[in-house]
Amino acid sequence: MSALSVNHLLGIESLTKQDIELIFSTADNFKTILNRRIKKVPSLRDITIANVFFENSTRTRISFELAEKRLSADVVNFSASSSSVKKGETLLDTVNNILAMKVDMVVMRHPHVGAPNFLAQHIDANVINAGDGTHEHPTQALLDAYSIREKAHEFNGLNVLILGDIQHSRVALSNIYCLTKLGANVKLCGPPTLIPKNIESLGVEVSYNLQESLEWCDFANVLRIQLERQKDSYFPGLREYANHFGVTMQRLNNLSKPITIMHPGPMNRGVEIESKVADSEHSVILNQVENGVAIRMAVLYLLASNPS
Ligand code: CP
Repeated sequence: MSALSVNHLLGIESLTKQDIELIFSTADNFKTILNRRIKKVPSLRDITIANVFFENSTRTRISFELAEKRLSADVVNFSASSSSVKKGETLLDTVNNILAMKVDMVVMRHPHVGAPNFLAQHIDANVINAGDGTHEHPTQALLDAYSIREKAHEFNGLNVLILGDIQHSRVALSNIYCLTKLGANVKLCGPPTLIPKNIESLGVEVSYNLQESLEWCDFANVLRIQLERQKDSYFPGLREYANHFGVTMQRLNNLSKPITIMHPGPMNRGVEIESKVADSEHSVILNQVENGVAIRMAVLYLLASNPS
């Protein structure tokens, strides 16, 4: 297979296993190029991409921009905080104005679930979801799974733990779709108040016991407590959370085998993850960031061959 089954990347839910594997094999080629002295290829010359961010971002935004520039695309960046959105302009008007300037692809982060899907139905450009509210963050899940594949080579029989604030995490949902499609066993762990009811229907197990879950897994993807999305009090306090669900060196040292620690960032050091763990040989957190560029190059390149 040499083409994706979709012409937008709105979520992992709509991808096939073959799509994901095609993105990985394409990313392998781009990763080789990124390790060369000359890292730029002409693949997306004459393609114009708008990065439209209605919410803060460090990793995703820089990673997309770098991926686009490495592919020789023309890039425009839009930030809601410094735009006419502040004067009341709608999402559709904003994006249609950008498209009137002949933009081919839109990478969008938005605080509202479904905003990229709405956009894809109304505009004539490929849309890539860079994170929509608590829904999906597909390129994060792809780079997470790609980083696992780099270490483990095989998903069948692999145990992956997703730990923390599952309820408010778009990374969790995209990871669940991605890892289960690839054949990994997925377990969720966190306080009962931060794990959605009936989530087992997505083919995952749930545990509220951190030490048992760490013992079970080969990889633990540790998620941030998303205080900005929490409307209620879900646990007594950050110290209490760290005591019960924080990943510490002491907990890792008590395991019968070493495990690999992942985090999509940004991290709350000392809350969900101890600094010593984040900076230890167990952690592949910066490898995830590095792989993000190759994965995003692959997604952009493959979607450019599937015009909207
Ligand atoms: N992982 C992630 O989405 O980070 P940013 O919010 O910094 O983009």
